[in-house]
Amino acid sequence: MEGQVALSDLDDSVRASAIDVPTDAREEDIDRIVIGEQELQDKLRELGEQITEDYAGRELLLIGVLKGAFVLMADLSRHIRLPLEVDFMAVASYGAATKTSGVVRILKDLDHDLEGRDVLLIEDIIDSGLTINYLLKNLRGRRPASLEVCALLKKTGIQRVPLDVKYVGFEIPPDFVVGYGLDFAERFRNLPYVGVLRPEAYGDV
Ligand code: IMP
Ligand code: MG
Repeated sequence: MEGQVALSDLDDSVRASAIDVPTDAREEDIDRIVIGEQELQDKLRELGEQITEDYAGRELLLIGVLKGAFVLMADLSRHIRLPLEVDFMAVASYGAATKTSGVVRILKDLDHDLEGRDVLLIEDIIDSGLTINYLLKNLRGRRPASLEVCALLKKTGIQRVPLDVKYVGFEIPPDFVVGYGLDFAERFRNLPYVGVLRPEAYGDV
């Protein structure tokens, strides 16, 4: 078979290094999986169907909050069977640390005008709720016809402001999680599941 090399064809030094490479180098720092890949995808299908039903006959504008929502946006939008447009906003609410600062800065604003639009804000996770609270106030001022929130994850009972979130994928305990768009110090966004880091993984940063 052209292009394929069996391990038995390699000399000893190459074979040793090939075997040393972990199956998935992203996973070395993960302590446990909180929400698995299949569970995530099943939930997105369910959310997509619900959104399709709720917005039937209308044209949606999905706004993803970067960077965390980029994976969710890509997967969820493909389960929404309606004509829609997408836009993104980039905000900073955290540095490399794992505690919220309460400060939200807009790093990239929208390309779209919101006036008269049905807007669904797509957020990876609601922790203190300060980011979404700030964004809702900001976006409401642009006079959309409707404005709702879809968050993949919501940490239970720690929101510092009352929030009305129409679509929530999963309520999770208030642990710091990574994967499926969520980062620690910009890493782990490309994990296909949501997990908790090993305590040692925080030490490297
Ligand atoms: P909030 O303003 O405290 O609700 O935080 C919202 C933002 O903080 C999210 O969009 C994430 O970028 C980040 N964040 C909050 N909790 C976590 C977490 O457990 N892992 C990774 N990022 C998080
Ligand atoms: Mg982050």
